[in-house]
Amino acid sequence: MGEPYYLTTAISYPNGKPHIGHAYEAIAADVIARFQRLMGRDVRFQTGTDEHGLKMAQKARELGQSPQQLADEMASYFIAMCDGLDISYDRFIRTSEPCHHEASRAIWKAMAANGDLYLDRYEGWYSVRDEAYYDESELVEGEGGEKLSPQGTPVEWTVEESWFFRLSSYQDKLLTLFRENPDFIQPESRRNEMIAFVSGGLRDLSISRTSFDWGVKVPGSENHVMYVWVDALTNYITGLGYPDTSGDFAKYWPADLHLIGKDIVRFHTVYWPAFLMSAGLPLPKKVFGHGFLLNRGQKESKSLGNVTDPMTLAETYGVDVLRYFLMREVAFGQDGSYSPEAIVLRSNAELANSFGNLAQRVMSFIAKNCDGQFTASAAPTDEDVTLRAKVQEACRTALPQAFERLAFSVGLESWMQAVFACNAYIDEQAPWALRKTDPERMERVLATLCGCIRDLAIAVSPVTPAASAKVLDALCIPADERTYAALDTDIATGEIRVDNPRPVFPRLDLPEEVA
Ligand code: MF3
Repeated sequence: MGEPYYLTTAISYPNGKPHIGHAYEAIAADVIARFQRLMGRDVRFQTGTDEHGLKMAQKARELGQSPQQLADEMASYFIAMCDGLDISYDRFIRTSEPCHHEASRAIWKAMAANGDLYLDRYEGWYSVRDEAYYDESELVEGEGGEKLSPQGTPVEWTVEESWFFRLSSYQDKLLTLFRENPDFIQPESRRNEMIAFVSGGLRDLSISRTSFDWGVKVPGSENHVMYVWVDALTNYITGLGYPDTSGDFAKYWPADLHLIGKDIVRFHTVYWPAFLMSAGLPLPKKVFGHGFLLNRGQKESKSLGNVTDPMTLAETYGVDVLRYFLMREVAFGQDGSYSPEAIVLRSNAELANSFGNLAQRVMSFIAKNCDGQFTASAAPTDEDVTLRAKVQEACRTALPQAFERLAFSVGLESWMQAVFACNAYIDEQAPWALRKTDPERMERVLATLCGCIRDLAIAVSPVTPAASAKVLDALCIPADERTYAALDTDIATGEIRVDNPRPVFPRLDLPEEVA
């Protein structure tokens, strides 16, 4: 097994069904997980649901359910979404699990033992929608003159007895962390925001509530439940067995990457490292705040009536098409937009007409005309060598380097250029015409193409796992030769075998309600 790589998504509030933003994050994380596995890393990938807090309690009350019933019902949709989108998580954590209560109480006690907790009274603003405390100075004015959080959500004045965390004493340590680890917060714009926020001074953080009881009980103060973000962030270590610090914790902590949305960077890069420092635990290596996905340029919301179920998108266009589209269309980190037209256009141009067509044309020709197997004997020409070098460069170097820095769209652009080069090569070499005139040359051309198709299918497999697997199955590539390292050998030099090739990317039409 290779070097450990621990990757997490944010855990989602199961106060409703998953929306496209949840799917986007899960897919991006899965691409990273699959990519790192192909790079030989021993990947641990965790996702889950964030089930405590006032938002969950209020929603459950509204529906006449207990919070646990609401969480159970909705968590099942999140699990179904992950499974339906081929998300290869190792652990789906739910914060209502007893082991998570235990882990949260353990980190609490460690922070208390370090002298960082004290009992006082909180008086200030709280947004239930964001589950966040805000300083008066951060608030903005709504259209009717009402006070809103900087995210535009309602805030309520809250007064209650509360435990506090001495966040104020972590200002310098956090600034040192940011300075000494320029990669800790990404992208750069988010890093600058956090440096500015921390430099502005930090107030101690209220970390418990007494006005409701849906949460993790505070050790020794059983009328308090932990502020939901304290237990939520702890999920990242619960899933590794904390408070047991041997086993998975020893192997996988600190996390290599917390992948989250740009709206919750503060929780992950200020609060979470401070809690960990207080508890004497190592800090995650990187936090990446991705952008939002818009529907035709607009945020999806119930009032606009434009909320799309990601599973409907997956059913309409195909799981791999949706995954490819999301990774290809948007420069990762920035906000992006999707529409049925854009999905269909890209899928047809790049998957159906380019990669899919390349694979199917070549493999079905071999199945029909070469009995599905042959070994090319003619020596490769300059054209063959040039094509293979171009494909190698894209698959072995450009795409992995881009994916390593989470620049998925950049990596896929290189991949696409290599697909185009293969299609141009077929047109020039016209293997169909060689069948009668020069069968040996035809075999060499087909072998070269199969080598390239193998490379392209492996390279893109973190994004389109099912389609890549079908192509690789048809090319009879053994399961243990489907890694990036395997690309160093060229299958064109040995026997080529093709077994029952099937088209992997059908041409899509615009769904009727859109066309
Ligand atoms: N549930 C939170 C949200 O949707 C995210 C929690 S992420 C974790 O904004 F760090 F707490 F795990």
